[in-house]
Amino acid sequence: MIKISPSVLAADFSVLRREVQDMERAGVSMIHLDVMDGHFVPNLSFGAPVIRSLRPHSGLVFDVHLMISDPLRYVEDYAAAGADIITFHLESDSGPAETIRKIKGLGKKAGLALKPATPWQEALPYLDELDMAVVMTVEPGFGGQKFMADMMPKVKALREEAVKRGLPLDILVDGGIAPGTAAQAVENGANVLVAGSALFGRPDYSAAVRELLQAAQPGAAGGRGQTEKE
Ligand code: DX5
Ligand code: ZN
Repeated sequence: MIKISPSVLAADFSVLRREVQDMERAGVSMIHLDVMDGHFVPNLSFGAPVIRSLRPHSGLVFDVHLMISDPLRYVEDYAAAGADIITFHLESDSGPAETIRKIKGLGKKAGLALKPATPWQEALPYLDELDMAVVMTVEPGFGGQKFMADMMPKVKALREEAVKRGLPLDILVDGGIAPGTAAQAVENGANVLVAGSALFGRPDYSAAVRELLQAAQPGAAGGRGQTEKE
Protein backbone atom coordinates (compact mmCIF):
# COMPACT_ATOMS: atom_id res chain seq x y z
CA MET A 1 0.00 0.00 0.00
CA ILE A 2 1.21 3.45 -0.92
CA LYS A 3 1.33 6.02 1.89
CA ILE A 4 1.46 9.77 1.49
CA SER A 5 3.31 11.97 3.94
CA PRO A 6 2.61 15.66 3.25
CA SER A 7 5.52 17.97 4.06
CA VAL A 8 4.44 20.94 6.16
CA LEU A 9 7.31 22.92 4.73
CA ALA A 10 4.84 24.07 2.09
CA ALA A 11 2.05 24.79 4.60
CA ASP A 12 0.96 28.19 5.93
CA PHE A 13 2.94 28.34 9.19
CA SER A 14 0.68 31.01 10.64
CA VAL A 15 -2.09 28.40 10.87
CA LEU A 16 -0.04 25.23 11.09
CA ARG A 17 -2.44 23.39 13.40
CA ARG A 18 -5.30 23.93 10.97
CA GLU A 19 -3.15 22.95 8.02
CA VAL A 20 -2.21 19.64 9.67
CA GLN A 21 -5.82 18.94 10.62
CA ASP A 22 -7.06 19.78 7.12
CA MET A 23 -4.53 17.34 5.70
CA GLU A 24 -5.65 14.70 8.22
CA ARG A 25 -9.23 15.14 7.05
CA ALA A 26 -8.02 14.72 3.47
CA GLY A 27 -7.24 11.11 4.37
CA VAL A 28 -3.48 10.84 4.81
CA SER A 29 -2.04 8.81 7.69
CA MET A 30 1.29 10.57 8.13
CA ILE A 31 2.66 14.10 8.23
CA HIS A 32 6.26 14.95 7.29
CA LEU A 33 8.00 17.46 9.55
CA ASP A 34 11.22 18.89 8.09
CA VAL A 35 13.66 20.07 10.74
CA MET A 36 16.57 22.15 9.41
CA ASP A 37 19.40 23.69 11.40
CA GLY A 38 20.88 26.17 8.92
CA HIS A 39 24.14 24.21 9.12
CA PHE A 40 23.60 20.72 7.74
CA VAL A 41 21.44 22.37 5.09
CA PRO A 42 21.48 26.06 4.07
CA ASN A 43 18.05 26.77 5.55
CA LEU A 44 16.30 26.92 8.93
CA SER A 45 12.80 25.67 9.59
CA PHE A 46 11.54 24.71 13.06
CA GLY A 47 12.41 22.43 15.94
CA ALA A 48 10.98 20.25 18.69
CA PRO A 49 8.77 22.93 20.34
CA VAL A 50 6.66 23.25 17.19
CA ILE A 51 6.24 19.48 16.98
CA ARG A 52 5.34 19.31 20.67
CA SER A 53 2.67 22.00 20.17
CA LEU A 54 1.11 20.15 17.25
CA ARG A 55 1.12 16.74 18.90
CA PRO A 56 -2.14 17.01 20.92
CA HIS A 57 -4.03 18.26 17.88
CA SER A 58 -3.39 15.42 15.46
CA GLY A 59 -3.60 11.65 15.36
CA LEU A 60 -1.31 11.44 12.33
CA VAL A 61 1.96 9.55 12.40
CA PHE A 62 4.60 12.23 12.90
CA ASP A 63 7.34 11.53 10.36
CA VAL A 64 10.21 13.77 11.47
CA HIS A 65 13.02 14.40 8.98
CA LEU A 66 16.08 15.76 10.78
CA MET A 67 18.33 17.74 8.45
CA ILE A 68 20.71 18.65 11.25
CA SER A 69 24.43 18.13 11.84
CA ASP A 70 24.29 16.20 15.10
CA PRO A 71 21.04 14.25 15.29
CA LEU A 72 22.23 11.94 18.07
CA ARG A 73 22.30 14.89 20.44
CA TYR A 74 18.65 15.79 19.76
CA VAL A 75 16.92 12.46 19.22
CA GLU A 76 15.57 12.42 22.78
CA ASP A 77 14.03 15.89 22.35
CA TYR A 78 12.18 14.83 19.21
CA ALA A 79 11.01 11.57 20.75
CA ALA A 80 9.67 13.50 23.74
CA ALA A 81 8.03 16.06 21.45
CA GLY A 82 5.92 13.31 19.88
CA ALA A 83 7.79 12.04 16.82
CA ASP A 84 6.77 8.54 15.73
CA ILE A 85 9.43 8.10 13.06
CA ILE A 86 12.77 9.85 13.38
CA THR A 87 14.84 10.07 10.21
CA PHE A 88 18.39 11.39 10.23
CA HIS A 89 21.02 11.73 7.53
CA LEU A 90 23.82 9.29 6.86
CA GLU A 91 25.96 12.35 5.99
CA SER A 92 25.46 13.91 9.44
CA ASP A 93 28.15 13.86 12.15
CA SER A 94 26.39 11.22 14.27
CA GLY A 95 27.36 7.56 14.01
CA PRO A 96 24.51 5.81 12.19
CA ALA A 97 24.53 2.58 14.23
CA GLU A 98 24.48 4.44 17.53
CA THR A 99 21.83 6.90 16.38
CA ILE A 100 19.54 4.11 15.14
CA ARG A 101 20.00 2.27 18.44
CA LYS A 102 19.12 5.39 20.36
CA ILE A 103 15.96 6.08 18.33
CA LYS A 104 14.76 2.50 18.69
CA GLY A 105 15.65 2.45 22.37
CA LEU A 106 13.20 5.32 22.80
CA GLY A 107 10.49 3.19 21.19
CA LYS A 108 10.44 5.13 17.91
CA LYS A 109 10.89 4.04 14.33
CA ALA A 110 14.24 4.84 12.74
CA GLY A 111 14.77 6.22 9.25
CA LEU A 112 18.03 6.83 7.44
CA ALA A 113 18.16 9.46 4.68
CA LEU A 114 20.59 9.65 1.78
CA LYS A 115 21.44 12.86 -0.06
CA PRO A 116 21.50 12.60 -3.85
CA ALA A 117 25.30 12.21 -4.00
CA THR A 118 25.44 9.39 -1.44
CA PRO A 119 25.61 5.90 -2.98
CA TRP A 120 22.95 3.42 -1.86
CA GLN A 121 25.61 0.93 -0.83
CA GLU A 122 26.48 3.14 2.14
CA ALA A 123 23.13 2.30 3.72
CA LEU A 124 23.70 -1.45 3.52
CA PRO A 125 25.38 -1.95 6.91
CA TYR A 126 22.32 -0.44 8.65
CA LEU A 127 19.47 -1.87 6.61
CA ASP A 128 18.57 -4.70 8.98
CA GLU A 129 18.01 -2.27 11.88
CA LEU A 130 16.07 0.36 9.95
CA ASP A 131 12.33 0.84 9.66
CA MET A 132 12.67 3.25 6.75
CA ALA A 133 15.18 4.30 4.10
CA VAL A 134 14.76 7.80 2.68
CA VAL A 135 15.98 8.54 -0.82
CA MET A 136 16.26 12.28 -1.37
CA THR A 137 15.04 13.14 -4.85
CA VAL A 138 16.15 16.77 -4.44
CA GLU A 139 19.08 18.35 -2.63
CA PRO A 140 17.74 18.74 0.94
CA GLY A 141 17.05 22.24 2.22
CA PHE A 142 14.15 23.61 0.23
CA GLY A 143 10.71 22.65 -0.98
CA GLY A 144 9.52 23.16 -4.52
CA GLN A 145 12.56 21.81 -6.35
CA LYS A 146 12.67 19.62 -9.43
CA PHE A 147 12.42 15.84 -9.00
CA MET A 148 15.69 14.01 -9.76
CA ALA A 149 14.66 11.00 -11.83
CA ASP A 150 18.26 9.78 -11.77
CA MET A 151 17.71 8.72 -8.14
CA MET A 152 15.38 5.92 -9.26
CA PRO A 153 18.15 3.30 -9.58
CA LYS A 154 18.96 4.01 -5.92
CA VAL A 155 15.36 3.32 -4.90
CA LYS A 156 15.34 0.15 -6.98
CA ALA A 157 18.62 -1.14 -5.57
CA LEU A 158 17.50 -0.56 -1.98
CA ARG A 159 14.16 -2.26 -2.60
CA GLU A 160 15.88 -5.25 -4.21
CA GLU A 161 18.23 -5.54 -1.27
CA ALA A 162 15.37 -5.31 1.24
CA VAL A 163 13.44 -8.01 -0.62
CA LYS A 164 16.54 -10.20 -0.79
CA ARG A 165 16.97 -9.90 2.98
CA GLY A 166 13.24 -10.32 3.65
CA LEU A 167 12.99 -6.93 5.37
CA PRO A 168 9.66 -5.07 5.64
CA LEU A 169 11.49 -1.81 4.90
CA ASP A 170 9.57 1.34 4.09
CA ILE A 171 11.24 3.29 1.31
CA LEU A 172 10.32 6.95 1.29
CA VAL A 173 11.09 9.36 -1.53
CA ASP A 174 11.38 13.02 -0.65
CA GLY A 175 11.44 15.96 -3.05
CA GLY A 176 9.62 16.95 -6.21
CA ILE A 177 6.90 14.31 -5.83
CA ALA A 178 3.76 15.23 -7.77
CA PRO A 179 1.25 13.39 -9.97
CA GLY A 180 3.74 13.42 -12.84
CA THR A 181 6.63 11.86 -10.88
CA ALA A 182 5.00 9.59 -8.27
CA ALA A 183 4.47 6.51 -10.46
CA GLN A 184 8.11 6.08 -11.38
CA ALA A 185 9.10 6.24 -7.70
CA VAL A 186 6.53 3.57 -6.85
CA GLU A 187 7.46 1.41 -9.80
CA ASN A 188 11.04 1.43 -8.59
CA GLY A 189 10.05 0.32 -5.10
CA ALA A 190 9.10 3.37 -3.02
CA ASN A 191 6.00 2.94 -0.85
CA VAL A 192 5.95 6.26 1.03
CA LEU A 193 5.70 9.53 -0.88
CA VAL A 194 6.52 12.88 0.68
CA ALA A 195 4.94 15.81 -1.08
CA GLY A 196 4.98 19.44 -0.02
CA SER A 197 4.15 21.88 -2.76
CA ALA A 198 2.06 19.35 -4.71
CA LEU A 199 -0.35 19.07 -1.75
CA PHE A 200 -0.21 22.19 0.43
CA GLY A 201 0.06 24.31 -2.69
CA ARG A 202 -3.41 23.21 -3.75
CA PRO A 203 -6.77 24.71 -2.77
CA ASP A 204 -8.50 21.34 -2.17
CA TYR A 205 -6.35 18.96 -0.10
CA SER A 206 -8.68 15.97 -0.51
CA ALA A 207 -8.59 16.29 -4.29
CA ALA A 208 -4.82 16.76 -4.24
CA VAL A 209 -4.27 13.65 -2.09
CA ARG A 210 -6.65 11.62 -4.24
CA GLU A 211 -4.94 12.68 -7.45
CA LEU A 212 -1.50 11.92 -6.12
CA LEU A 213 -2.56 8.47 -4.92
CA GLN A 214 -4.23 7.73 -8.21
CA ALA A 215 -1.21 8.84 -10.20
CA ALA A 216 1.04 6.73 -7.98
CA GLN A 217 -0.65 3.45 -8.83
CA PRO A 218 1.69 1.17 -10.78
CA GLY A 219 1.07 1.58 -14.48
CA ALA A 220 -0.09 5.17 -14.10
CA ALA A 221 3.26 6.65 -15.23
CA GLY A 222 2.82 9.97 -16.93
CA GLY A 223 -0.90 9.85 -16.38
CA ARG A 224 -2.34 12.71 -14.38
CA GLY A 225 -6.05 11.93 -14.15
CA GLN A 226 -5.83 8.98 -16.52
CA THR A 227 -8.83 7.30 -14.94
CA GLU A 228 -10.93 10.41 -15.07
CA LYS A 229 -11.76 10.57 -18.76
CA GLU A 230 -15.27 11.74 -19.40
C1 DX5 B 1 13.48 19.12 1.32
C2 DX5 B 1 12.50 18.47 2.27
C3 DX5 B 1 11.26 18.01 1.62
C4 DX5 B 1 10.45 19.11 0.98
C5 DX5 B 1 9.65 18.52 -0.13
O1 DX5 B 1 14.65 19.39 2.00
O2 DX5 B 1 13.10 17.35 2.89
O3 DX5 B 1 10.47 17.25 2.53
O4 DX5 B 1 9.60 19.77 1.86
O5 DX5 B 1 8.99 19.55 -0.80
P1 DX5 B 1 8.45 19.39 -2.28
O6 DX5 B 1 7.45 18.26 -2.25
O7 DX5 B 1 7.84 20.69 -2.55
O8 DX5 B 1 9.62 19.06 -3.14
ZN1 ZN C 1 11.84 15.98 4.07
